[in-house]
Amino acid sequence: MTKRVFSGFQPTGHLTIGNLLGAIRPAVQLQDEADCVYAVVDLHALTVRHDPERLRARTREAATLLLACGLDRSLVYIQSQVPAHTELSYLLESTAYFGEMRRMIQFKEKSAGQEEVRLSLLTYPALMAADILLHRTDLVPVGEDQRQHVELTRDLALRFNRLYGETFTVPEAVHPRVAARVMDLTTPTSKMGKSNGSTAGTVYMLDPPADVRRKVMRAVTDSGTEVRYDPQDKPGVSNLLAVLAACSGRPVESLAHETYGALKRDTAEAVVETLRPIQERYLELSADPAELSRLLAAGAARAAERGAGLLAAAREAIGLP
Ligand code: TYM
Repeated sequence: MTKRVFSGFQPTGHLTIGNLLGAIRPAVQLQDEADCVYAVVDLHALTVRHDPERLRARTREAATLLLACGLDRSLVYIQSQVPAHTELSYLLESTAYFGEMRRMIQFKEKSAGQEEVRLSLLTYPALMAADILLHRTDLVPVGEDQRQHVELTRDLALRFNRLYGETFTVPEAVHPRVAARVMDLTTPTSKMGKSNGSTAGTVYMLDPPADVRRKVMRAVTDSGTEVRYDPQDKPGVSNLLAVLAACSGRPVESLAHETYGALKRDTAEAVVETLRPIQERYLELSADPAELSRLLAAGAARAAERGAGLLAAAREAIGLP
């Protein structure tokens, strides 16, 4: 049976090379062998302080970027245009426990020290589970940081099936071999992020080549001079090696550099070359906003149609008329 694949991308900020290497590229590769659905999950971006106009713009930007990366052979749509996500999410909120939501690492990190924590930040993993389960997903290509959320999705699917009868497919996360967690270039002990990371340490997919080169050349490296893959003792150098390996398609072990400077130069060029065709295609696609709207509306209609059967089965199982 052809496997079903789903993944989501939050438009909380501009997409980064972390998103690209951790999830988008693996998603592109899965298109050859699986039935793939990808969404820009704009509802998830409401879990933290946001600006409505900026959210709308970032949502379109993210959708355009996904297509520019080569996901145009998949079903691509915007989450909020398919109401089944929120409907199923409520059934999963009614399956999940407060305790397990509160224990999610991302919830703890994002809520720490904040006075105004949106309730949706706590319930967010139920919506993410709904995204995945709605499409009877087998595989979820994601970066390392989403592992716990996919684990929770599995727990919720199993619990629902046990309580109300076989309804959901139990999904599995898939991570890339390298660059499953791209680190911030200036703080290589924290994840490179759209919104939480530093601008200097984050390479955005739409950064012009000069910015990419500057950011990579200024990346924080480690003490010593030896270029070696050792994420524990050499997080900065190892991060550059992982990015270079992912961008060049060469195994980390085959990369040999005499100096940190040479490694940075190679990495900068590999990132620039990886981004070049994506940025070119992004510009082409952006020239026709009406076509993008049409494509996304058609994608949403198809996604709604595909999800309808599962939603009806879940409603029936849980006891709704
Ligand atoms: P998000 O929007 O933060 O990131 C999108 C994808 O990119 C991966 N990623 C990274 N991979 C490697 N290194 C990094 N520095 C890095 N930063 C981000 C993420 O792991 C993710 O795969 N909750 C999800 C979005 C979501 C989702 C879903 C994903 C909502 N519903 C259903 C899969 C299935 C999130 O916040 O990802």
